[in-house]
Amino acid sequence: MVNSDYNQREEKLTAMTSVSTPDPGFDPAECVVLERTDPCTIVIIGATGDLTARKLIPALFDLYLNDGLPPSFQIVGCGRTKMDDGEFRNKMESALKNAGMPDLGQWPAFSSALHYRPIDYEDLAAYRKLAESLSDLDISHNTLGNRIFYIALPPILYKTVAQMIGRAGLSAEMSNGNGWSRIVVEKPFGVNLNTATDLDRSLHEHFSEHQIFRIDHYLAKETVQNVLMFRFANSIFEPIWNRRYVDYVSIKATETLGVEHRAGYYERSGVLRDMFQNHMMQLLALIAMEPPSRFKAELVRDEKSKVFGALRPFPIDDLQKYLVLAQYSAGEIDGKPVPAYREEPDVDPNSLTPTYAMMKVFLDNWRWQGVPFFLTSGKRLAGKRTEIAIQFKTVPHSLFRHILGETILANRLTIGIYPEEKIKLTFQTKNPGPRVCLRTVTMDFNYQQNYSGPVLDAYEKVLIDCMLGDQMLFWRQDGVERSWSFLTPILDRCEDCDDQQETLKFYPAGSAGPAAAERLFREPDG
Ligand code: BG6
Repeated sequence: MVNSDYNQREEKLTAMTSVSTPDPGFDPAECVVLERTDPCTIVIIGATGDLTARKLIPALFDLYLNDGLPPSFQIVGCGRTKMDDGEFRNKMESALKNAGMPDLGQWPAFSSALHYRPIDYEDLAAYRKLAESLSDLDISHNTLGNRIFYIALPPILYKTVAQMIGRAGLSAEMSNGNGWSRIVVEKPFGVNLNTATDLDRSLHEHFSEHQIFRIDHYLAKETVQNVLMFRFANSIFEPIWNRRYVDYVSIKATETLGVEHRAGYYERSGVLRDMFQNHMMQLLALIAMEPPSRFKAELVRDEKSKVFGALRPFPIDDLQKYLVLAQYSAGEIDGKPVPAYREEPDVDPNSLTPTYAMMKVFLDNWRWQGVPFFLTSGKRLAGKRTEIAIQFKTVPHSLFRHILGETILANRLTIGIYPEEKIKLTFQTKNPGPRVCLRTVTMDFNYQQNYSGPVLDAYEKVLIDCMLGDQMLFWRQDGVERSWSFLTPILDRCEDCDDQQETLKFYPAGSAGPAAAERLFREPDG
């Protein structure tokens, strides 16, 4: 390289040490513009429910405002309640107003694409009628027979609704690329391994795997998507991302919210089914997986599935060495008293449902053998925070020990998912001054720094990807089953044992969690 090339290159690299976005070589506009999707109709089954008003319609409206919907689209809400299009549009408009949506100037244009069709979920004739209505919309609005069926209903209805959609001929696809049909289901995918495979069998009676979109909204979070970019678009982290350098990994998702109005669901699910079987497992997979050869949905999902397959089964009779389950008692959140879980509306006053869990898991593979992964999630804790920390090992030998003692804090890399969307690296430096002292300093990067383009909320991202048919951010059935294979024996043991009562710990709402979690953390590895 001639000298001037060298200088130019060095100058450019020096200038880039402040955050520049995007990297040279990419046109900034390309990162911002949303990919154009096929014309389609989005059918929301369960349109009078909470999810539709709180998440789906706001997400679709925001996509509309950001030019993220296809040129021709229609939205059809279906529910048991009798209502006409006008009433449905008014209901959704009020929901947006309540949610504080700032600019409803374009609502009239958007809402002209909203329709409502009453449906009895178990009545095949109603689905046949819906099919006719969808065909009419295809003709009048040029939606080309492409349909997404978003099941926004309690999981107990997934099977029935999927079957009815299929039996009404709505799952059939044409071979010319148009006329596609996709079904979207939210977690929980079953309540254990058997029910998960049973649900899958029902879905597959009428839909093929490429038509099934199993949502995990954590995967659609920007900072979660960033994990793979961070790991595999840099060369300096991967060589140390293993048992030789990593002491332990901590993955935490804590919440201040309690069970809210969801006792009916939560009482049967508890924190393991609600947070671990899905979100926590996905975070674990992203951190622990091997690099796929290409950034393609199937290859990425293959690698994640291998992580679930490598989970070391817990010794069922010695669970307390690996698992702490707890429930919140009364306490304070933000200075206000809040009731115990058992005092929440519709919760059994003797409930043994855990609202908190800490799990110490191991992966039986070459990269991670012996490295504990601590997974922690709980409701009514001191703060709402989702964070992944890679704790590196301490230096093998301290040449400063005669002046500083033995303890030198080890490096720590923190990937903040929420509320801090940051990547932080802590390391040791000399404290300025005449004495020889170390201090721990942090280098950090704020994910939103120097970026002012649109940011998609998780549901917007999920809806766009369904329209594009991109399954990268969705669960694949083999992953679901492997994850359940790990958790089901634990749940069986926890829910059927005689010592269930003694096993469950308690923590005051607003605290950092049960003391037993601290002990699990300190316990030497088994
Ligand atoms: C949901 C769980 O999947 O995730 C809730 O059912 C939980 O219980 C929520 O509160 C947490 O999501 P987020 O995005 O707020 O961290």
